[in-house]
Amino acid sequence: MNSFADTQIRKADHLRICLDEQVQCRDVTNGLEHYRFVHNCLPDLDRDDINLSTSFLGKKLGAPILISSMTGGTEIAKQINQRLATIAQHYKLAMGVGSQRVAVENPQVADTFAMRAIAPDAVLFANLGAVQLNYRYGIDECLRVIEQLEADALILHLNPLQECVQTKGDTNFRGLLEKIAGLCDKLSVPVIVKEVGNGISAPIAQKLIAAGVAAIDVAGAGGTSWAKVESERATDDKQRRLGATFADWGIPTAECIVAVRSISPDVPLIASGGLRNGLEIAKTIALGADLAGLAFPFLQAANESEEAAHALADVLIAEITTVLFCTGNATLADLKRSGTLKAV
Ligand SMILES: Cc1cc2nc3c(=O)[nH]c(=O)nc-3n(C[C@H](O)[C@H](O)[C@H](O)COP(=O)(O)O)c2cc1C
Repeated sequence: MNSFADTQIRKADHLRICLDEQVQCRDVTNGLEHYRFVHNCLPDLDRDDINLSTSFLGKKLGAPILISSMTGGTEIAKQINQRLATIAQHYKLAMGVGSQRVAVENPQVADTFAMRAIAPDAVLFANLGAVQLNYRYGIDECLRVIEQLEADALILHLNPLQECVQTKGDTNFRGLLEKIAGLCDKLSVPVIVKEVGNGISAPIAQKLIAAGVAAIDVAGAGGTSWAKVESERATDDKQRRLGATFADWGIPTAECIVAVRSISPDVPLIASGGLRNGLEIAKTIALGADLAGLAFPFLQAANESEEAAHALADVLIAEITTVLFCTGNATLADLKRSGTLKAV
């Protein structure tokens, strides 16, 4: 098990590497280029009447956008979280924070995650690695991170490939499903399970749903590659090569959404992994997702300034609105029902 200092250094490295190095997938895409909306040149709509509001796990949102789990634990991370929380509050978006393990190990950095005061009305998700349940974490640690954030739900992330590439990664994943089921049973907030960029298949989603998870975030391939990130961090040749070999590993996001929806028409479903604009967000919604998450674009913007993060949210909303207008749909529910997204 790593020390607090190791965990904090790792989190700082992750921000620096994601921002400064080329760690996006190159040979695998999110798969959304295989779909196209049918243009409607005569929408029976006033664009001003289009409504992007939605709800997720019973909470109201202004738009179907999740600022995906990223960071916390350092002063830079705190500033990024604060800028993102400001945006989440302004647009009524959902926001996840990065793994709070660093704050379990050292409660002094809990304030780098504590965003509720800034975002009293946003939907906030706490975050821990599911594998920590095999490394002495249990219900107490989960309750602590939920409380730190005053979170609406707890995200547990699954990251077997990242742990393989990480030097001294936590690679004992045995028996995790039962432990996740136990938490779903005991916690009073919903449990969401996500990947970190390699995707969740239909059979695994089925097991997670049977275990009682409230929602799934597929976090598919096509965007930030954690094999690449950990390869960049590796201090030995073996780990560096391992990360490079698996740089484009995973199930593309579009494939995950279609597959999970085919086995469960109603599980609350988040699309993420390589989504880079509002047109792609709209495609995932039309494919059956309820919410779309973006990590790297929000990191880049928030690292620049609060205004840049503001501008990003604003343009994403404009892009989704444009899809609805130019397909003749007034709401996200209409878009889902419309059949205007075609495989090409
Ligand atoms: C800097 C950074 C840190 C991240 N840290 C976490 C984390 O602590 N917990 C987690 O569940 N996902 C984490 N992720 C993964 C994202 O939530 C997301 O699943 C993944 O990056 C794919 O989305 P993207 O292609 O839009 O970046 C992180 C992503 C980035 C860019």
